[in-house]
Amino acid sequence: MLDSNYFYYTDKRLNCDEVRLEELASTFGTPLYVTSSKSLVDSYNAFEHAFRALPHFTCYSVKANFNLSVIRAFAELGCGCDVNSGGELYRALQAGVAPDKIIFAGVGKKHEEIMYSLKCGVFMLKAESISELRSIDRIAGELGKIASVALRINPNVTAETHPYITTGGSKEKFGIDEAEIPEVFALLGQLPNLRLIGLDMHIGSQIFDPEYYVAATVKLLALFNLSKTLGFAVEFLDIGGGFPVTYDPLKPATLIERFAEKLVPMLQPAGVTVIFEPGRYLVANASVLLTKILYKKRNHAGKEFLVVDAGMTELIRPALYQSHHEVQAVSRHDKTVVADVVGPICESSDFFARHREIDAVEEGELLAVMSCGAYASVMSSNYNGRLRPAEVMVNGSEVKLVRKRESYEQLILNELL
Ligand SMILES: Cc1ncc(COP(=O)(O)O)c(C=O)c1O
Repeated sequence: MLDSNYFYYTDKRLNCDEVRLEELASTFGTPLYVTSSKSLVDSYNAFEHAFRALPHFTCYSVKANFNLSVIRAFAELGCGCDVNSGGELYRALQAGVAPDKIIFAGVGKKHEEIMYSLKCGVFMLKAESISELRSIDRIAGELGKIASVALRINPNVTAETHPYITTGGSKEKFGIDEAEIPEVFALLGQLPNLRLIGLDMHIGSQIFDPEYYVAATVKLLALFNLSKTLGFAVEFLDIGGGFPVTYDPLKPATLIERFAEKLVPMLQPAGVTVIFEPGRYLVANASVLLTKILYKKRNHAGKEFLVVDAGMTELIRPALYQSHHEVQAVSRHDKTVVADVVGPICESSDFFARHREIDAVEEGELLAVMSCGAYASVMSSNYNGRLRPAEVMVNGSEVKLVRKRESYEQLILNELL
């Protein structure tokens, strides 16, 4: 069971801050995402504290959870944003983030997206290829602007994590290949509408071993020295995100301090501002997905299934990444059963837990799928005609609906007969 200051039992009932989860389910229905705003603030403060010795600028990676209220919670703390598309940029601006606190990443930015970000005046664009640098230069020229850019390099460090979320290896599509760097520096001199202000990397997500960051940072610093020798005035080194969280109490994440202990002394002598782009670290453990047990059934082999009203359409991580989520009864029982917790979607990959010991819950009761703040609601879909769930934010005893449940009308809104 995940122990948390934000989701905890009193009288055998699970709470978020000072609110009982069963009350939220009866007010807002299920499936329901519940986020603790205190958890967001505390995670951000813990991150800032760990890297306090380093001049730095933290940009929350909006892709992890793009709810406007989540983005705003970080913006109010002084945090910037890392966005990956025109849509995320739009969201960040709507949430009230100042354009000059937004960095724009992405391996495949469209012409219109580059145009949009330059018109808004984002802080910098991170270029991932020679062709992209040429595009940004051309579009900036059309707009009569000078674009501030960072080069995202692929440091050729394959961090050990799920293969779908390692991004810094030579097999991956991300970043500019090391071998191309001399050509890129030479090219920059011929692109009059670009100003190189940063060097950037992002080696993946949910990385437990700080040594991968060390290996990649060595490469980034070598590049920084080269850029200085060539006369570029690089002011920012962007280390990316990827810092880990605990999903499974048996596999606790490396503390953020362990990363800071390694990275701060390496980066301090460079005398630049370091940019961090944490996503998961800031949000993963701030939310749960509340779901109701629709049916219990048992097969001839004695296998027990709990069929719940949320599925891979609301939380695809187990299906996509084989990821572990703790599943906790909202009302505790003294007995347990071993069961599969499965959703209503017609795919065999639609499950939250397999062969898991769980409280002996009954039909109509509630389960909380834990650690659902990152890469969860953002990946929800309408597959099987499902409605995206509602989301609430809890702060102490205050509850705010921060996303309405979708309606059938919204399902067909963009279709023409
Ligand atoms: C460029 C970039 N920055 C930051 C992040 C955030 O990563 P995490 O949520 O693991 O911190 C990602 C995630 O894929 C990314 O692609």
